[in-house]
Amino acid sequence: MSHVLTGLDRQREIYLAGVAGQTPKVPLSPEGLATAARNRLSKEAYAYIAGGSGQELTMRSNREAFAQWELVPRMLRNVAERDLSISLFGRTLPTPFLLSPIGVLEMAHPQADLAVGRAAAQLGVPYIFSNQASVPMEAVAAAMGAGPRWFQLYWSKSRELVKSLVQRAEGCGCEAIVVTLDTTLLGWRVRDLEAGYLPFLRGKGIAQYTSDPVFLELAQEPPTGPATQAKRKVTLEAIFALWQMAKAHPGSTWGNLRSGRALRAVQHFIQIYTNPALAWEDLSYLREVTKLPILLKGILHPDDARRAVEIGMDGVVVSNHGGRQVDGAVGALTMLPEVVAAVEGRIPVIFDSGIRTGADAVKALALGATAVGIGRPYVYGLALDGEAGVAQVLTNLMAELDLTLGLCGLRSVEELSESCLRPAQPNFSK
Ligand code: FNR
Repeated sequence: MSHVLTGLDRQREIYLAGVAGQTPKVPLSPEGLATAARNRLSKEAYAYIAGGSGQELTMRSNREAFAQWELVPRMLRNVAERDLSISLFGRTLPTPFLLSPIGVLEMAHPQADLAVGRAAAQLGVPYIFSNQASVPMEAVAAAMGAGPRWFQLYWSKSRELVKSLVQRAEGCGCEAIVVTLDTTLLGWRVRDLEAGYLPFLRGKGIAQYTSDPVFLELAQEPPTGPATQAKRKVTLEAIFALWQMAKAHPGSTWGNLRSGRALRAVQHFIQIYTNPALAWEDLSYLREVTKLPILLKGILHPDDARRAVEIGMDGVVVSNHGGRQVDGAVGALTMLPEVVAAVEGRIPVIFDSGIRTGADAVKALALGATAVGIGRPYVYGLALDGEAGVAQVLTNLMAELDLTLGLCGLRSVEELSESCLRPAQPNFSK
């Protein structure tokens, strides 16, 4: 059973520990959290996690979009009791937070997805397993007990693989499928390009594939395509990368090296994991292979949201992938009101991209989001203190959400609406 502290409980806990000389291990400010994680992570890992595409203008827009709205607190409304719960796909959730899918968590912590799953289950927060996870979904599900989980799908070039992944997700108790649509090609990620670093090429973040019977069957074939034919120099770094691949692959490292299994898996993965040919018509296939609710992630335009409703999708996730795909794209929060209006309450609208505080969450919920996804902040918590670090980040977000709600004169998340907000005035002081 999950236990969510109230904002007051959390404050008390922190201040009392302070009297005993202890301050929180995981910083509370978004900047402090990112800086502490940066100091803990390798250069490549921090660049991969913190970075965005191009000049990172979209990341900036994501944050600026929150400053475009200001809360207008109301007084004298008896807010002694507050209810953060929401209902989503027939489940009552203790808070409106979800954990957005994040791949390659082994870069942040050796316990990776397992640590995140345990923290999520402890707090009753649904964890959306990434298709690029570091641990197979079945193992994370087992670590979560009855904790709610969903599965995020990248639609690969093999429909058989799509079906297999979705069926495995059903089999391990995932309650929804989130199809990420904004990454049919990988964005132009300058920090990673400058470091020449793509974790998948070292066998990281491909555990859902190397644990999949359909993928393993595909990977038996000798790979084809430009990436496999290019001549590469044999350097110490290249040998190290091969060893990393073999180590990440299930089975004995030496056996994986000798048989070429690990290298073949990576080469096959690179060829099939994205599918730029994906189109609206393909989604009917997903409907055929699963009865679970299907959500489309990466929706920004109201017409796309309308179309999602028309073809029977069960939800949309307004997101620009945390600014990692199109540089110079609109801030995700900027599009939330239009998407909410287009959907007309027919399906839930989930929001992510840029949420850093409980007050940010309040704004997104007031603009009509049913729930909000946390991304980078929980990865930083993971990097700093594993399962406990993720739990701390989430608990702090929940506490601030609770206090902000009460201080705005509201008793429940349900009461949040656009009437709690006002567009920020232009800054005349400049
Ligand atoms: C992501 N995101 C992501 N999304 C997805 O659908 N599948 C994935 O595997 C990943 N992997 C991933 C890795 C890393 C390192 C990051 C930072 C993000 C996007 C994620 O789900 C979410 O949309 C963003 O993280 C939201 O932006 P913020 O709030 O983290 O800035």
